[in-house]
Amino acid sequence: AFMDSLLGIQQLEKELSKKLGIAHCLVVPGNCDDNGKVVDAMGKIVTDTLKTLLPLGKNIIAVMGGTTMACVATCLTSEVAEGRELLFVPARGGVGERVDIQANNVCAQMALCTGGSHRSLYVPEQVSETTFKTLLKEPAVQDVVELIEHSNAVLHSIGEALHMANRRSMSDKQIELLKSRKAVGEAFGYFFDEDGKVVYKIPRVGLQLKDLASMNCIIAVAGGVSKAKAIAAYMHHAPSQTYLVTDEGAAKTILKGQ
Ligand code: BG6
Repeated sequence: AFMDSLLGIQQLEKELSKKLGIAHCLVVPGNCDDNGKVVDAMGKIVTDTLKTLLPLGKNIIAVMGGTTMACVATCLTSEVAEGRELLFVPARGGVGERVDIQANNVCAQMALCTGGSHRSLYVPEQVSETTFKTLLKEPAVQDVVELIEHSNAVLHSIGEALHMANRRSMSDKQIELLKSRKAVGEAFGYFFDEDGKVVYKIPRVGLQLKDLASMNCIIAVAGGVSKAKAIAAYMHHAPSQTYLVTDEGAAKTILKGQ
């Protein structure tokens, strides 16, 4: 039975990679919507993948926030740091999340678990254009923005569009716009419809979608039946070298759908 399920998972990974047009999908058993332990299993795979993908020596890893990343952070181990110097930086500014799941906090946790270091970026989301521009001139902010520009790896999740819009307290008007444009998924502050078209973008400092193309370590971590549509939508955009770490719940739903 164990071999059967292993083969089943391998088959699922192959079919999913083909469907999503990316080279690597790694699937863990279960559905994280019903069982939080499934995210821990994804976190373990993230550790293994980082060990394989990151070059020895210096690495700057750009990290997004969210509940998935916060959990993945606690699963990383010092094995990742063997032969490597790791610096974790938040991929984008925007302090619009619960503090424990903000990218700044996720970076701190990742540094703690691996024995690496981290930097924080303090640029709140709800400030005027002028304040935003002034903040960007701050040397402490510029330092981190420069590090983000030099990052060689990125770790991120993918969210359901409307769930993320509500969680980030976007205005009713913006939410109506997302609905009318049929947004289903979100990553890096970009919202996508089912065909992967960018239908809205939160203007923020840091990593932009186009910056991903040149990176050789991109790991997207997202699972659960509820995220199937969001994952499929973003994957239209994801560079082909992206590793998707997901679960059986999302994988099977994506393969059934559309
Ligand atoms: C946010 C990221 O913090 O988390 C988003 O900025 C991502 O890009 C989202 O989509 C996912 O959140 P969660 O809680 O579903 O892991």
